[in-house]
Amino acid sequence: MTPDDDALRLNRFLARAGFGSRRSVETLIADGRVRIDGEVAASPGCRVAPGSRVTVDGKDASWPTAWRVLAHHKTLGVVTSLRQQGQAPCLAGVAAAAGFGPGLVPVGRLDADTTGLLIWTDDGDLAQALLRPRRQVWKRYEVRLAAALPPSARPRLTDGGIMLDGHPCLPARLLPPGRDPRRWILEIQEGRNRQVRRMFGAVGATVLGLHRTAIGPVTLGDLAPGKFRELTAGEIAALRAAADGGP
Ligand code: URA
Repeated sequence: MTPDDDALRLNRFLARAGFGSRRSVETLIADGRVRIDGEVAASPGCRVAPGSRVTVDGKDASWPTAWRVLAHHKTLGVVTSLRQQGQAPCLAGVAAAAGFGPGLVPVGRLDADTTGLLIWTDDGDLAQALLRPRRQVWKRYEVRLAAALPPSARPRLTDGGIMLDGHPCLPARLLPPGRDPRRWILEIQEGRNRQVRRMFGAVGATVLGLHRTAIGPVTLGDLAPGKFRELTAGEIAALRAAADGGP
């Protein structure tokens, strides 16, 4: 890695240092309130190299600490919430058992009856990029249906246009993992409430089991149910690139 590989765009630096979203910190920069090594920063795209001094209104912005990004295998019946509501087990218990502080949170959600990959991070900037409302990173789901999916239903799932909550779904990818016509892999670029179940419901199919195996370049692999693993630096970089609209 060259030193430049460690440099960050100024808007990302400020967002990670807690000055707001990448979009909102652009106003600070445009207003001339941000300096790098004493010079007023000209644009959000200026590079901040490790060791540079960045100030906002004369106050030091500290170099962001290393963020944590983890993969978690959510188990059946666990509610994706950090607030205990009622009796159902939720992620508050999971976070407490793992010894997580308040900053480390799950990104997005899975239904209680869905299992599989959840990303956790304390990097709000990454979380926000992963959850952007429009086209998101591809997410892969293994789907178990009550009955064989008729061939005529397939283009409706993949071509986009199934209406949910008054908005058409984006095109999706559908793959048969084997020969069982009740088992499918569906990949989507959105994260609407119970989206996969409702998409299959729209073509007359009932989902009996749903398991998420990938979020962008990050895969669940053989991570055991209930367990966490820290992502490697390479995985984090690839996830950031995908969340920013990269490959
Ligand atoms: N789609 C669903 O229907 N449920 C999930 O948990 C995730 C995606």
